Amino acid sequence: MDQIRIEIATPFGRYPVIIAEGLVGRLHLLLRELGLGERRFVISNPLVWRFHGTFIGPRLPGSEVVLIPEGERFKVLSTVTRIYDALVNAHAERSATLIAIGGGVVGDIAGFAAATYLRGINFVQVPTTLLAQVDSAIGGKVGVNHAAGKNLIGAFYQPRLVAIDPLLLKTLERREFRAGLYEVIKYGMALSADLFARLGRDLTRILARDPAALIPIIADSCRIKASVVEQDERESGPRRVLNFGHTAGHALEAVTKYRRYRHGEAIAYGMMAAAQLAIDRGLLAPDLRQALASLIGQLGPLPPIGDLQIGPVIEAMTLDKKVADGKIHFVLPTGIGSTTIVNDLTERDLKRALKGIGMKA
Ligand SMILES: NC(=O)c1ccc[n+]([C@@H]2O[C@H](COP(=O)([O-])OP(=O)(O)OC[C@H]3O[C@@H](n4cnc5c(N)ncnc54)[C@H](O)[C@@H]3O)[C@@H](O)[C@H]2O)c1
Ligand SMILES: [Zn+2]
Repeated sequence: MDQIRIEIATPFGRYPVIIAEGLVGRLHLLLRELGLGERRFVISNPLVWRFHGTFIGPRLPGSEVVLIPEGERFKVLSTVTRIYDALVNAHAERSATLIAIGGGVVGDIAGFAAATYLRGINFVQVPTTLLAQVDSAIGGKVGVNHAAGKNLIGAFYQPRLVAIDPLLLKTLERREFRAGLYEVIKYGMALSADLFARLGRDLTRILARDPAALIPIIADSCRIKASVVEQDERESGPRRVLNFGHTAGHALEAVTKYRRYRHGEAIAYGMMAAAQLAIDRGLLAPDLRQALASLIGQLGPLPPIGDLQIGPVIEAMTLDKKVADGKIHFVLPTGIGSTTIVNDLTERDLKRALKGIGMKA
């Protein structure tokens, strides 16, 4: 069977990302190949498990399944404690393996439990959303939210295996699927003209979730994220490029209290704002902004933005944790697949760009 294998090198060792249609059906073989013992705990949520548990469960015999409540609002320490409780009650030892089967929320929570239980047990990611397959499952960031902010508590902890099966995406709500695709557009626009072109070419098959069309874009995304993360595990330099679209995007999420937009949708607007800033500076040709807008447009409508005030969005940008030394670092596109970072944008520049993407002055 065709499969793609990407080796990720980290200072703490190597691990494979394996991508193939139907991969979850032979997960137990992969675990055995990697020498991961028979003591396994599957962490998932009721929604994902309802769709996929009847298939996956019997194929991982002997695993204890721990379902955690579904949703970002349960991405908190008390949910991690529920996982610890299950591990303690089952007398799980250092050699145990925690398998996260779910979207980014399940992966982040389970990864943090795996990183901290007995100072670290084996961790395997089986991402089930497109966002998790192209982004959150790669890079080793795990953690939970605090009442004071998102992802404030966490660790860097690498999995032993990331197993990506595009067939799992069939049951994903359309909006969730599209939300993940905006991140793929981000990789293309920021770092790979080839990926960007492929998205345009294969979009109909991608939207139909044809595994043959999905595998190459997932693989490219994983390679891009892996190579950036390898250069920069702790996010000081190169990893910043992956923040393309995220400065304005995070601000839009914050001013709408994380209710209006899926993360990727806010990033779509953020990429448009960055493209507008780049044009205003003469860094990007207008027809390339148009290519970005047209690809984003082909995915379908985004939730509205026209009623939002510009002032609070700019304020939220300056409060974002990614602001270093009081300056907003903006990743601006200079072409398809290339970016530059600027840190001298004025409020006037920002206002103008936000107006340019349809916000209220
Ligand atoms: N660790 C990182 O580097 C990193 C990077 C980006 C995002 N994140 C985190 O990821 C989270 C967002 O992840 P997400 O977008 O995957 O959201 P999510 O995990 O909440 O999943 C979205 C929804 O889809 C459901 N779902 C998952 N798989 C499904 C399937 N196969 N079929 C049907 N429904 C399914 C989930 O239960 C949920 O309702 C955020 O908490 C974010 O902070 C982490
Ligand atoms: Zn993102």
